Amino acid sequence: MSRLSSFPSIRNIAAPAVALSSVLMLAACGPNDAAPATDSTPAAPKAPSPTEAEKLAVLAALPAPYNEADLDNGRRAFARCRSCHTITPGGPNMTGPNLYGVFGSKAGAKEKYSYSHAMRTADFTWDAETLDHWLQNPRTFLPGNKMSFAGLPDATDRRDVIAFLKVETGFKPQSE
Ligand code: HEC
Repeated sequence: MSRLSSFPSIRNIAAPAVALSSVLMLAACGPNDAAPATDSTPAAPKAPSPTEAEKLAVLAALPAPYNEADLDNGRRAFARCRSCHTITPGGPNMTGPNLYGVFGSKAGAKEKYSYSHAMRTADFTWDAETLDHWLQNPRTFLPGNKMSFAGLPDATDRRDVIAFLKVETGFKPQSE
């Protein structure tokens, strides 16, 4: 539960009710740490999709600066990707490939998606750093790719959309 100490930064977000209530729920857990009578919460069965509290736990476990990201801003920034990309498990490829599980996977590796030659033969693995460069300027990062997107010039938007994608696409922090 010591991770809770990283959560106060989340309070800076002008969050909608959902995120805010998660923070409040988490904040409400705090006193339980000190109360021996209530520390035996049984493990919940594996839920098909993560709860808001689990998403915030993934966020808090990300390395800086991503642990301070604003997920709501990340969601807003992702609106610029949504016309071409889905992010749910097994979601369809559209103009661009489905992005579930993208972190830690090789670039251009989704079997059923028809990549450009440049992307298919690119030899790197997606992580926060490569994605940051890609999103800054897709054309210069990988010449010859077919993602027609000008890029996200704002570093904060890139930080936030990368954290949003880590939280939403099944990335597991390294403790696993
Ligand atoms: C106009 C459509 C379009 C938009 C908007 C777009 N993309 Fe893409 N994206 C593509 C296409 C097409 C590809 C495949 C590129 C290739 O094969 O050269 C791609 C590839 C990618 C890949 C590589 C996936 C893999 O399997 O290796 C990532 C990551 C990605 N996009 C992230 C994003 C993010 C994040 C945004 C928003 C900030 C975004 N894209 C916006 C069309 C788009």
